Amino acid sequence: MAIEIVQPSVGLSKIAVSETHGEDSPYFAGWKAYDENPYHETCNPSGVIQMGLAENQVSFDLLEEYLEANLESANWGQKVSGFRENALFQDYHGLLSFRKAMASFMEEVRGGKAKFDPDRVVLTAGATAANELLTFILADPGDALLVPTPYYPGFDRDLRWRTGVQIVPIHCERSNNFQITPEALEAAYDHARSMNMKVRGVLITNPSNPLGATVQRKVLEEILDFATRKNIHLVSDEIYSGSAFYADEFVSIAEVLESRNYKDSERCHIVYSLSKDLGLPGFRVGTVYSYNDQVVTTARRMSSFTLISSQTQFLLASMLSDKEFTQKYIKINRQRLKKRYEMIINGLKKVGIECLKGNAGLFCWMNLNPYLEEPTIKGELAIWKTIMHEVRLNISPGSSCHCSEPGWFRVCFANMSEETLEVALSRIHEFIKRRKN
Ligand SMILES: Cc1ncc(COP(=O)(O)O)c(C=O)c1O
Repeated sequence: MAIEIVQPSVGLSKIAVSETHGEDSPYFAGWKAYDENPYHETCNPSGVIQMGLAENQVSFDLLEEYLEANLESANWGQKVSGFRENALFQDYHGLLSFRKAMASFMEEVRGGKAKFDPDRVVLTAGATAANELLTFILADPGDALLVPTPYYPGFDRDLRWRTGVQIVPIHCERSNNFQITPEALEAAYDHARSMNMKVRGVLITNPSNPLGATVQRKVLEEILDFATRKNIHLVSDEIYSGSAFYADEFVSIAEVLESRNYKDSERCHIVYSLSKDLGLPGFRVGTVYSYNDQVVTTARRMSSFTLISSQTQFLLASMLSDKEFTQKYIKINRQRLKKRYEMIINGLKKVGIECLKGNAGLFCWMNLNPYLEEPTIKGELAIWKTIMHEVRLNISPGSSCHCSEPGWFRVCFANMSEETLEVALSRIHEFIKRRKN
């Protein structure tokens, strides 16, 4: 039986009581609604289908197949000496074999078009920790990071909550396919300055979450030029790089730097993790890759707080350095994601729902603006509630991603089976028919 403890009114730190973690947003409320009544095809067919979670489950069979065939070399369990090494290893540099494997996998994902030095790979417990750790290093409390909208709702927590840093939105608009423009960058910078904030950097996600689209090379170059002109940092969160449906449609900031002979690279930092491309968020494997020696050294020191267990490093080192496996995995995973994307886009098109043209990611960016009762955030949240409670789908409203136009939703498609996706689509069809009537 739970022990009831009377809670005394003893004070807590400002961070502990702050609201800047953003967990009261509809993005997280939707997860709660799913947890309370999760869909299951046989046990709970009328439950909530989770379409608010950017998880990649489409290629688990490939990972399982590899592990079954290679378990002996990948697992310390066979040798007691291996167990002891793993149990005692706690160097915050991480296993060299794993850093090499991570660097090689990051190159593979970019089709060999960029090189990564294992000595610049700082290991962290996922991209969440990597983004926070970088923010701690690049900015002081009250300083600003410019982030294009719409953006991943978790950034409110990762970049702001414990660091005290402010996010200043770079407003991107539909009329421009939500691309980042030089004018929008300047406007965000001027806005931050008018509020007396020191701007420390720009943080982009490429491919974009929630748009499901890659950032064009020209745009990357403009952002890098802007960062250089203002003498600020550029962080590129490339956690979805392996999810671009066509490898050559994704351009990493690493490639842009290489083509410029690493000029201005000391202000550039890449965040990566295995949570999306390999579908392993539970393993908590991420990295900060920085071209700035001081940032690498500091990040490594700070990574003491968010290390990856040596058991996990050991297990994944052999898998990620197996080129035959990684090449096959990346290729098939891209094809499967593209197939899923087409399935959902075509399904939505049948009832006249339009989505932004995507070429990457685990989600599409769906426009329900024509179905809002009023074209405001209030109208957006009203339809979101109906979809959650009546249609029983958890999708993420654009306002939780700070989108400036009401009616957009992020809809995830890779965290379920094709059958479940069909059920979700038929529920949307019914809903739209009712709405039209
Ligand atoms: C853009 C972006 N960055 C970081 C993260 C966090 O990833 P991780 O599970 O590696 O902490 C996510 C997860 O959804 C994300 O979408």
